[in-house]
Formats: sequence, structure tokens, C-alpha cells
Amino acid sequence: MVKTILLLCCEDCVPQLSNGLKANLESQGQKVALLNPLAGSKDEVVGASFCKKEAVKLLADGKEDELIAQLIDRIEETGKGSDVVIVTPVFEDLTFRGAYCLNLEIAKNADAFVLPAVCSEGKTIDEFIADVETTVKFFAQDGITIKAIASGCKPDFAKLCNEKGIAVVNPKTPVLDAKSVVPSINIVTPAKFMRSLHDKARANKKTIVLPEGSLDRILKAAAELKAQNLVNLILLGDEDEVKAAARAVNVDLDGITIVNPAKSPDYEDYANTLYELRKAKGMDLEKAKKLMLDKTFFGTMMVYKGVADGMVSGATTSTADTIRPALQFIKTKPGIKTVSGVFLMSLADRVYIYGDCAVIPNATTDQLRDVAIASAATAKAFGIDPKIAMLSYSTGTSGSGPDVDAVREATEKVREAAPDLAVEGPIQYDAAVVPSVAKTKLPGSAVAGQANVFVFPTLNAGNITYKAVQRSANALAIGPLLQGLNKPVNDLSRGATVADIVNTVVVTAIQAQG
Ligand code: ACO
Repeated sequence: MVKTILLLCCEDCVPQLSNGLKANLESQGQKVALLNPLAGSKDEVVGASFCKKEAVKLLADGKEDELIAQLIDRIEETGKGSDVVIVTPVFEDLTFRGAYCLNLEIAKNADAFVLPAVCSEGKTIDEFIADVETTVKFFAQDGITIKAIASGCKPDFAKLCNEKGIAVVNPKTPVLDAKSVVPSINIVTPAKFMRSLHDKARANKKTIVLPEGSLDRILKAAAELKAQNLVNLILLGDEDEVKAAARAVNVDLDGITIVNPAKSPDYEDYANTLYELRKAKGMDLEKAKKLMLDKTFFGTMMVYKGVADGMVSGATTSTADTIRPALQFIKTKPGIKTVSGVFLMSLADRVYIYGDCAVIPNATTDQLRDVAIASAATAKAFGIDPKIAMLSYSTGTSGSGPDVDAVREATEKVREAAPDLAVEGPIQYDAAVVPSVAKTKLPGSAVAGQANVFVFPTLNAGNITYKAVQRSANALAIGPLLQGLNKPVNDLSRGATVADIVNTVVVTAIQAQG
């Protein structure tokens, strides 16, 4: 990935510092690109730059996430074929929420090396050093480690800075070792996480069936998925009805397949297959034919038959009605008995996995073990090294009772079944995530304080917690992802937004990639 340097200096310093830095890095054999991401009306709009007016419009429309995503796109676009891209700052004269916040988002999402300026004019050496230290502390509050500043200060000022571990880049004759250009902050933001998922989905496009084909939210999500080239789509429903609904929300269905179960040439075959698969459970052919007119059954059968690689449904139906066909005939993967549902909880700086939040009301200890093992596998599939916390109201032996005993037993079962997994339980949420609490409550644990996969003792606990964190801690909750099924089928919450639907389709496609 191209290295990004984010300059945070005054407007007057930008030309000298950016051009000088570019020349210096080029003299070290680096290919360097320059980007002024938010050019003002008087500036030259070059390369992938935004016009400031466009940015202000996006913000006025409440689309800050989209602005950040587009800014990061432009940094990547500008940096193509280069080793380093130097990004000039977004300035305070914008008519929206602090430029600092926007610069901060660029730093976090582009893994930038942040180079702030500290002015030395009229300052004593002590005043200057105090300003440098304040700057370093100020950025540290946002998790950004400052290793260098830009300053035209005197050599003795610079020397003292160097002794304190801070390099000084003089705008007049900038020198910066290319090897020292490393991210000042290394976190997984929701935007970065979604970006990685989109890249993954796009790299091996899968076909996803959406049974609720004439629903506004589904159609808008389909348009977004198509525009971003993330998956191939099949919408179920009466063709005229779906097309009319699409026209009403201004969605172009070009390239999207529409299938009407009742008129499908596969209908008879699907009904026969359902009958064959479920006759031992009392299914007769007439009932199978009736069920196959139900779009959820038909969509699930498309996945079973391999016509679609995955299904996403449930924007209008209950979880039970959405996933029952999959439980009945897609069934579990060989060796797996339990289907459960997890959320990928993308917090401001990391991704956690919460399970079971969707399927098993009162899990047995065997089922809790299965949820833990399946959640660890899901974590790995999404690039997370799993550290599993088996949650309880007790940490170790701090509390007692049958519920704590059940979590202890389930933890032992995980250890037996999957000795390579890092698991701790019973453990409270604070001991699982806060290193200082972990040190007091469970010293020496390899999981306490650093857990990233959380197994809740009941569906009540899991479902309540994911919604609480999503709604009160502003986390992006992606899911539920059903784990353990032979092929991916995922359920939407009935309150799912267009963005939720897009995200669920993307993770379903990634599950389908195996
Ligand atoms: N894992 C694997 N197989 C299962 C599971 C499971 N967790 N649950 C049921 N099955 C199988 C059964 O073995 C059975 O197979 P068979 O017919 O071949 O013998 C089949 O599925 C149907 O089983 P039933 O016991 O009849 O299941 P039922 O349909 O009554 O319930 C369900 C299953 C729908 C998952 C139920 O447990 C449920 O409603 N769970 C809660 C769902 C919910 O409301 N979640 C919260 C909202 S989700 C959200 O907020 C995002």
C-alpha cells in the first residue's frame, strides 16, 4: 500500500513544505505524488482533488462517511504507482465541523504519517519545546503518535527536539528519512473495515438472491451493490411489480436478474427437491409446491441448488421464518451441529465479534461450545485473530451459581474440543476488554483484557448487548451472520437500513467465497 504523509501546517507553508518534501523523498529514490484533497474555488483542482463545494454539499446532506470514503479513494487513486503520497491539509475556513476532525479521519483511514507544524517565531526555546510537547500530547489523545514536526526553528531548538525523540523537518530545506514514514495511528475504523470487505467481495464476485425484490430498501441496496460492482444479484418477485417498484425509487435494474418463483422453469424441480428432502419429516408434494411459492423457500432452494451462492432476506419477515428453510434443508456443515448468529461489531478503532445474538434462545453448554468455535472460525475468515471471552456475571470464581457453572463447563468443552483456541471463561465484559481490570481480576490470562470474540450465555444477553452497543456506542453492527450452515443464508433485522442490507450482502458474498 502507498505510504501517506498528512501535512498539518498553515496554508502559507504548504507549497514550500510539500514541494520540498517531495524533492527530498525523490532524492531517496521514492516515487512521490501530491494531493490537495479539498481544493478551494481559487485553488487549482488537480488530479483526484475534490472541489471544496462538493465536500460541503456532502456534509450538508449528512454524508460525512461518504466524504471520508471518497477522500480515501482519491488518496489511493493519486498514489497509484507511487511509493508515497503527500496530502496537504484541510483548512479551518471550511463552513463545517472542525477541519481537525476531517484531517483526523484522513489520518485514521489512510494510515497516514502525520506531520504537524509547530511555529517557533518569537518563542524562547522553552516555550517552543512546551508547544511541541503539547502538540504531541494533543494528538496522543486521539491515538496518534507524532514522531516528527515541521518547523523552521533554529538549529539548537531542533537539536533539543531530536533529543526528545521528535524529528524536525524544516520547510525551507525539508529532510525526512523515507523509512521513518510509518502510520502514526494503526486502527481498524468502520470505514477501513468496510473498505477491506468491499475489496474482498469485488475480488471474487458471488451471486446473491434477495427474495424481497420489490421492497424499496432492497431495491436501493441493489442499486448501491451494482454501482460498486460488489456482487451479482437476483431479485425475486413478479417482474412487472419489481420493475414498477424500482421505477418508483429511481433504481435502474439493468444487469440484475428478476425471477418470479411461480413462473420459474425451475419451480417444479425445486418443489420436488423439497419434497424429497423433507418427506421423512412429513412433507407431501402438494405442501412442497405451496411452500415453493414462498419467496424465502424459493430463494433458499436457489442457494441449495447452487443457482445463487447466498441469500439475504428478512427485511419484512421474522428471523424464525427467514432462517427455518435453511435449517430444514441447507442444514449444517459436516461435523457441525449448531447454527448460531454473530454480529461483526465495528467500533471506532477495532472489530469485535458478538455471538450468539440471533438463533439459540437458551443454549446448552454443548451449544455454547459450538458458538465459541464457530465464532472463532468466523473471526479468522474476517482477518481477526480470535481471543474468546465466555461471558458471565462472574470472572473466574468471583461469583457462583448454576449460570456461572454452565459457562465454566462450556469453556472447558471449548478447551477440550479446540485446544489451540485462546479462550477464557467465565469472565465479565470489563475483565475481557480492559487490560487494567484484567490485571486485577484475572492476572496471567492470555485473553483477559484483549478479547475480541464474545460468547454470550443466552440469546437475551447477546441480542440486548449488540443492540445496546450499536445504538448507544455508535458501533457499526454487521449481521447477523449465520455460522454453521452448509451455504450462506443471512437474516436482516426488520429495522435494517439500506446500508445494513448492503453490508449484509457483502459479508454473505464473502462467506460464499469460503
Ligand atoms: N442449529 C442447527 N439446526 C437447528 C437449530 C440450530 N440452532 N435450530 C433448529 N434447527 C433445526 C432443527 O434440528 C430442525 O431440523 P429438522 O426439521 O430437520 O429436524 C429444524 O431446524 C427446525 O427446528 P425446530 O425446532 O422446529 O425449529 P423452529 O423452527 O421452531 O425454531 C429457530 C428454530 C427459528 C431458529 C428458533 O430457535 C428461533 O425462533 N430462534 C430465535 C430467533 C429470534 O427471534 N432471534 C432474535 C432476533 S434476530 C435479530 O435481532 C437480528
